[in-house]
Amino acid sequence: MERAWWKESIVYQIYPRSFYDSNGDGIGDIQGIISKLDYLSDLGVDILWICPMYKSPNTDNGYDISDYKEIMTDFGTMEDFDELLEKAHKRNIKIVMDLVVNHTSDEHPWFIESRKSKDNPYRDYYIWREGKEDNPPNNWGSWFGGPAWEYDKTTDMYYLHIFSKKQPDLNWDNPKVREEVFDMMKWWLDKGVAGFRMDVISLISKHPDLPDGEVQDGIYGNLSPYCINGPHVHDYLKEMYGKVLSKYDIMTVGEATGVTIDEAVKYAGYNSKELHSVFQFEHVDIQDEKYGKWTDKKVPLKHIKEVFIKWQTQLEGKAWNCLFWSNHDQPRAVSRFGDDSEMYHSLSAKMLATCLHMMKGTPYIYQGEEIGMTNANFEDLNEYRDLETFNAYDKLVHHLGVKHDTMMKYLKCISRDNARTPMQWNSSKNAGFTTGTPWIRVNDNYDKINVENQKNDPLSIYNYYKKLIQLRHNYDIIVYGTFVPLLEDSEKIFAYKRRLGNNRLYVFCNFTKDKQLYEAPEELLLSNPRTLISNYDTNVIGLLKPYEAVIYLI
Ligand code: GLC
Ligand code: CA
Repeated sequence: MERAWWKESIVYQIYPRSFYDSNGDGIGDIQGIISKLDYLSDLGVDILWICPMYKSPNTDNGYDISDYKEIMTDFGTMEDFDELLEKAHKRNIKIVMDLVVNHTSDEHPWFIESRKSKDNPYRDYYIWREGKEDNPPNNWGSWFGGPAWEYDKTTDMYYLHIFSKKQPDLNWDNPKVREEVFDMMKWWLDKGVAGFRMDVISLISKHPDLPDGEVQDGIYGNLSPYCINGPHVHDYLKEMYGKVLSKYDIMTVGEATGVTIDEAVKYAGYNSKELHSVFQFEHVDIQDEKYGKWTDKKVPLKHIKEVFIKWQTQLEGKAWNCLFWSNHDQPRAVSRFGDDSEMYHSLSAKMLATCLHMMKGTPYIYQGEEIGMTNANFEDLNEYRDLETFNAYDKLVHHLGVKHDTMMKYLKCISRDNARTPMQWNSSKNAGFTTGTPWIRVNDNYDKINVENQKNDPLSIYNYYKKLIQLRHNYDIIVYGTFVPLLEDSEKIFAYKRRLGNNRLYVFCNFTKDKQLYEAPEELLLSNPRTLISNYDTNVIGLLKPYEAVIYLI
């Protein structure tokens, strides 16, 4: 077992717009994060991954960057950022930046130049093609709706955008683009940031022929096979490693949409010389046959188990896992995988946390998860803010015949805004997030679910997370122990053990509101195990109460 600080750390993800507003304009900001550093330090997390804070016109809330070396005015200034870095370091908290380099904003100076003329020095920074008889160069659909090509009349050509048309894709085949990106990365690392979460990094290399994609929704072709894990992605990441990453003691995690085990080992194998880890999405990206991610179906435990067991066992000895239930693009964990009704909210949130945090890998906590924040429950389309939500509404309701009410149900389950409502700090107006008008509505349940209530309650979800974090810091077996699945056939219980030296850690999680019996492993029955943590006062080996989670150490 090779020790590394990033294996032993717990990451907390901040969506700055919704974390804490220090100046009453309704938008979270850097001074807001600074004022909550003591909170984060009390929780015990080691690393903050902060979603993009760079200058941006905010079409996609900062994932459309117009200057990589400036801070967005909504969030503050570079002085604020430097202060944040310094004050976080004083508390032994590292900061990891979001690196968004598959695309820039169309307001980035490179793109402004690029679109001016065919012989502009920046022309090849982006992916330009001629149309085909008044049509785009191929049939690809953007992941955010509409075509993936935008016509630009200045030069009578089209540019590629996998996301919105205000997010043109960079041309990574151009060595100049790579040098610019590498220089920018060094600039941030020299400032003292502890690494990068790399946005959609598996998309940077496109198939050179840009062939038409298979039409699945009756409208556009699927670009994924020609952009995900493309022909040169590993060459470019190895180059990035050699020129930048290898020179610093940092951690890197790639957002690797569509990654397989084999690909993950290429990206983040212990000897791959590319990244330290990747996010895989198989347990959360459940695609319905009809409308892709837009569905109100629950994810069956069977699926969740299969995915986790596969990743836990097949990466063993080869690469490091990332563990997460949620992020700024996913619904809230307790609403999606647990039960957010009053009766089971706290029990199921703690059960989910136990299940995730005891696996092998680096756990990520998405802001608000530590108090069991729930889905937004918006009734009105106007309450949403996310462009992906509006584009999906338009496509499904106006083009594919889905009823308004059905779509509103899908949005309540899956819209990215479920995760983006303001952090619930206390029961005062707007959950204590802002003294002004929040940019997106606060969840109605803030009077019950908030930080202030939970900090003082020893049985709260917050204090449970705190204990889980301490356990990971104190027990090597939680970080380095080998994962062994148990009760694999159960569709109600997720159970596994961890093994390190002579120690054994048994984890049992009941994913249902019914009592469950299980056949306890002999080793456990014959020993005198210590209960490390549970969401109930008492536990009986062989029996799980509703949403019970328990960890035994031998
Ligand atoms: C990633 C981000 C998401 C963003 C997209 C485009 O998936 O997590 O929020 O919209 O990339 O940058
Ligand atoms: Ca503000």
